[in-house]
Amino acid sequence: MSVSLKNAMIIKPFNAVVYGGDGDLAFRKIYPALFHRFVDNQLPNEFKLFAITRTDKKHGVFFQELRNFIEQSAAYDYDKGLIDVFFKKMRIIVVANHTEADYHELKTAIEEQPNYQSVYYLSTPSDAFGPICDCLKRCGLVNAKSKVVLEKPLGNSLASSKEIHQKIIKSFNENQIYRIDHYLGKETVQNLMVLRFANHLFEYSWNSEHIESVQITVAESLGVEKRGDYYDHSGALLDMVQNHLLQLLCLIAMEPPAKLEADFVRNEKLKVLNSLRLYDKDAVIKDTVRGQYSRGAVNGVQLNSYLEDIEKYASNTETFVAIKAHIDNWRWKNTPFYLQTGKRMSARYSEIVINFRSVKHNVFPLQGEIPGNQLIIRLQPEERIELVQMTKLPGPGGYRYKPISLKLDYVDSFTERFPEAYERLIVDVLRGNQTLFMRQDELEAAWIWIESIVKSWDESKLKNVLYEAGSHGPGDLIMDKNQKWLRHTEDDFKAI
Ligand code: BG6
Repeated sequence: MSVSLKNAMIIKPFNAVVYGGDGDLAFRKIYPALFHRFVDNQLPNEFKLFAITRTDKKHGVFFQELRNFIEQSAAYDYDKGLIDVFFKKMRIIVVANHTEADYHELKTAIEEQPNYQSVYYLSTPSDAFGPICDCLKRCGLVNAKSKVVLEKPLGNSLASSKEIHQKIIKSFNENQIYRIDHYLGKETVQNLMVLRFANHLFEYSWNSEHIESVQITVAESLGVEKRGDYYDHSGALLDMVQNHLLQLLCLIAMEPPAKLEADFVRNEKLKVLNSLRLYDKDAVIKDTVRGQYSRGAVNGVQLNSYLEDIEKYASNTETFVAIKAHIDNWRWKNTPFYLQTGKRMSARYSEIVINFRSVKHNVFPLQGEIPGNQLIIRLQPEERIELVQMTKLPGPGGYRYKPISLKLDYVDSFTERFPEAYERLIVDVLRGNQTLFMRQDELEAAWIWIESIVKSWDESKLKNVLYEAGSHGPGDLIMDKNQKWLRHTEDDFKAI
């Protein structure tokens, strides 16, 4: 099944050079994304793909492994023979060190196509970004058409993110830098813009006069898997809130951009980030909760604690965080944004709940207080939008009502294949569209807010609350009276 290409811009011939070319992300996401766009005929005939590896991985093993990942990556009918055609475009190049001598083979390979644009995709730890960019420049492999893609984490503090940036801009200008946040490539996340800015109905009530609170949840049932070393140095705040949750918050809270162009959108997101209220010692105690999973069970299956998973006796790293965030601007004054995310929670789901205020005057006082409407935007695993509204119960008994949900399930409404987030993002890089990528000033504004939490956690010595693996996590601890997290599982969902 092909994606409609009616309005798509042509992609110019390119060399894609993937550093970390035999890594997990490259195999799971980057190559399959390029492959599926190749199947969709969205890539030009003229392109080359170079997998940069540090050690010499056997050619046969590499391609067999990659074939498995590609075959598992999407369930739709396509000609499997295209995998071999795609592989013919690929080549493995070993680069042990970032020296001109070690870049010789890559340089020769790139210079065979002098008119192609070169995209350098850095799927490596961020301390390698500087040396790679520097060596590319020294080798004469960077020109006005070149682009560089950076995978998170982009440092672990404001200072380190600035330091990385200083190194990269010696080789690439800001308009050549693409900082990936894969949440922005998800179809349902992009739909937030359409929902807000193509529907008159919502935009006029999209402010604190009508919206009581917003809840954003990204819950995962998985633990830290094999990433314990990385995760223990980062924790939920840096791994998820600093990027994905803040980006979702920006899309919900931003003003309509004048145009759908990169800097127009990014300017509006930046204003939101700059309006986030910073935390101090007292505020983090009141408005944040951090947690760590202990042993638990799901459907009778026993789950390890975080410490068992990372094989350590002690760790203060949070695997869960919930935050009551305040946006101090005209539109959102007095509308808290609740954010929560955690590993080993009861289920994997991401959703945004917009809680509208109740009606101004209750003409059905005998029925008690009227709950406000809710707009529920379910991002994953199902893609769905729901509007919860009060409806009269049929039959006698006066005006009895209950909340009923109007649902729009994406799968029922569209027959197109739902592309993976990376497909959209990589194609945007090839086309030179930076709208869905973070600019450095956005990143720095996000760090300033995050660091106010990190610093205040340190000063207040706020401890992790233990929560059982497979539970809902301790998010309720930051809720105001009369507020609760809307729902945590499919069962709660059915209960409405
Ligand atoms: C990544 C985090 O950025 O996002 C992971 O580093 C997390 O810890 C992942 O599991 C979640 O992404 P998704 O698309 O599965 O919600």
